[in-house]
Amino acid sequence: MEPLIAPSILSADFARLGEDVSAVLDAGADIVHFDVMDNHFVPNLTIGPMICEALRDFGIEAPIDVHLMVEPVDRIIPDFARAGATYITFHPEASHHVHRTISLIHDHGCRAGLVFNPATPLTWLEHVIEELDMVLIMSVNPGFGGQAFIESSLDKLRQARKLIDNSEYEIRLEVDGGVKVENIGKVAAAGADTFVAGSAIFGSENYAATIAAMRAEIDAASQ
Ligand code: DX5
Ligand code: ZN
Repeated sequence: MEPLIAPSILSADFARLGEDVSAVLDAGADIVHFDVMDNHFVPNLTIGPMICEALRDFGIEAPIDVHLMVEPVDRIIPDFARAGATYITFHPEASHHVHRTISLIHDHGCRAGLVFNPATPLTWLEHVIEELDMVLIMSVNPGFGGQAFIESSLDKLRQARKLIDNSEYEIRLEVDGGVKVENIGKVAAAGADTFVAGSAIFGSENYAATIAAMRAEIDAASQ
């Protein structure tokens, strides 16, 4: 699968979000990673469906990858689908009925993903992998941008890669947290194909140069 660069707008300039998201897409990003936090499932509070809709109204056409760090999840899914989400991913701990939540996402016309915290085992995949469009491996504990990459995530990515390849379904393997130019090569080598990066992109002087450097590292890792 084509590698996708997914800047996390958690590190964007919220006072001029539409322009900053346009800029990062013009600089070569593929999809927009949209972090939703509720000060309950995770200790931070961010943005909801109104902001997603505002980005669509502003003219953002790229896929929007909504990462729900909220509990409960089901109530808010139709709102995000209406607001223009492309992917909706959620944490299994935040849903009482994981299979039902995946179906709800699909019923509303979006692609569904399951997110694994650093301590969450991949066994959750056993009975639902064939229902998924994306598996997201957290390489930090969710809640904040700018945290250090947890090295054990590389092993977990390799395991997830095997499970996805064995399933023979078209499932994206996304990684989220602490990804930067310096480590994206080994993350790609471990099997990720969708790369969230917040502070590394939005905190850089030149988005295009940073994204190009990331792509070069990904390409080199796949040689
Ligand atoms: C963390 C979020 C991430 C975060 C990544 O809870 O899910 O998407 O924005 O930020 P960086 O790339 O700065 O670690
Ligand atoms: Zn995220």
